[in-house]
Amino acid sequence: MPQWRQGLTKSLHQTRSMPESRYFQLATVGESGAPFCRTVVFRGITNDDQLVVISDTRSEKFDQLSQNAKAQVCWYFSKTREQYRFSCNATVMTADDDYDLVKQQWDKLSDAGKKQFFWGEPGTPRNDGSALHIEGDFKQVPSHFCTILLAIQNVDYLNLRGNPQNREWHEKDENGNWVSQSLIP
Ligand SMILES: Cc1cc2nc3c(=O)[nH]c(=O)nc-3n(C[C@H](O)[C@H](O)[C@H](O)COP(=O)(O)O)c2cc1C
Repeated sequence: MPQWRQGLTKSLHQTRSMPESRYFQLATVGESGAPFCRTVVFRGITNDDQLVVISDTRSEKFDQLSQNAKAQVCWYFSKTREQYRFSCNATVMTADDDYDLVKQQWDKLSDAGKKQFFWGEPGTPRNDGSALHIEGDFKQVPSHFCTILLAIQNVDYLNLRGNPQNREWHEKDENGNWVSQSLIP
């Protein structure tokens, strides 16, 4: 396991009682080159170092990642005062692409979580202020439900604890092995 991943496992363990430590910021690049950033929920990490996020293919991030797979994750653990910045290549999967993976994520959602995918087209006007009409079958994975896999390319880690602070850079060498370098913060 790469050194940064051992650190991340420890950060997650130390902050396990804080739900907000499962949220991170995901930045993507828009068509004009402008950055877009939003909060998402960490759903896990695969054996080959891909962060797992769930989302909706009708959202802007889906179009952005389809055009440009480059993304950055910024994740701050307030209790341990650590920041991880992951440069990633994203792959977006729907049930058509990988049914087992996407169905597994869908099945893990609570009914309240599933409901959000039946509110209608995200980001479109909501005019009359009435309750949103839920239409759909929770047992079926909606075609617009997707799993985003964020393959980590490099890691910029900063720990604010200590004087001086500790910053580390992690990247893969030409053989695909992770190498680390301590940096001036
Ligand atoms: C705490 C929190 C967690 C969120 N988790 C997710 C998530 O896991 N997946 C997601 O697509 N949107 C999530 N959102 C909503 C996004 O931040 C964003 O508003 C929405 O996905 C639309 O983004 P987009 O138009 O840039 O694609 C979350 C928002 C908050 C505040």
